[in-house]
Amino acid sequence: MAAISSSAPGKIILFGEHAVVYGRPAIAIPVHQRKASVYILADPLAETGRVEIIAPDIDMQTTLRDLPEEHPFSCLLKLVQNHLRLDHLPAMRMKIKSSIPIASGLGSGTAVSVAIIGQSPNVGQKISDAEVSSLTFEIEKLYHGSPSGIDNTVISYTQPIFFIRDQCIETLAVGREYHFLVAHSGIASKTVEVVGSVRAGWEKEHAYYENLFDEIGEISLKAKAALSKGDVSAIGSLMNQNQVLLSQIGVSSPELELLISTAQKAGALGVKLSGAGRGGNIITLVNPETSSAIAQALRGAGAQDVFPTSLPPSPHAEMIWNHG
Ligand code: PMV
Repeated sequence: MAAISSSAPGKIILFGEHAVVYGRPAIAIPVHQRKASVYILADPLAETGRVEIIAPDIDMQTTLRDLPEEHPFSCLLKLVQNHLRLDHLPAMRMKIKSSIPIASGLGSGTAVSVAIIGQSPNVGQKISDAEVSSLTFEIEKLYHGSPSGIDNTVISYTQPIFFIRDQCIETLAVGREYHFLVAHSGIASKTVEVVGSVRAGWEKEHAYYENLFDEIGEISLKAKAALSKGDVSAIGSLMNQNQVLLSQIGVSSPELELLISTAQKAGALGVKLSGAGRGGNIITLVNPETSSAIAQALRGAGAQDVFPTSLPPSPHAEMIWNHG
């Protein structure tokens, strides 16, 4: 039997990270240049339920049975098995590959979950985007404490989204094509730790953090309108404002600031960190004409994986889900 495969893109948060955990709006887009892929080969000669997992990127070759129950892959496959009401999973070999750097704010773990849930054990039953997203969210909760849900949503639906926790998810209207550069600081940063330290700050200085989150929420709202109008210079300026607030929250770092000022000096239209921060990636809004000079400057300043991505125009916003 031929292998079946599925893949899921990385993501960047354009506006609103951290504030989104506290109920403010945020905007995220899929990044198709980096992705996680899963290849499945049915193994009819193997005993029922035997799932072999091969993940060369993390040096893993094992069977599901030999993995600890609390391992993300075990939890994930158990969740899907229960969701599909299967007595056991079909015997199969599952190979997982990813070009998304780990702990970099590009959604590496989420993309692997989405790719596995979207394809592997569903034995012909279709799992909808909404189901993939909500199953992935269950896994995110195990590893991130109190995730907002923005990562699993943007990666499962594979669309640019305007997101408010527990309230609404809309796809975005986009008035023109926007060009970006993504650049990795080379520093791994664990979301759970950064989110935890923001929470500790919020508990100590509630009003200060609430004000910053309010300002970030306002920026996301303005950005939603500017994106639909095709107002590139407003988007650039809003990204810069968002970065100042992120640094006041305490999630920037000297390495990120060096990349940010390098991009600004080289002609970026706007630049900010993306994701949890304290490492990981920055996202830079560029003109296509100046993109390669900015990329070169970023590499010269130590960025490790610089690549272009874009947000294509899209005429309509569409409500995906509205809780309230
Ligand atoms: O997974 P990351 O590093 O892209 O961060 C997710 C964004 C946060 O707002 C920091 C956390 C969350 O749950 O929304």
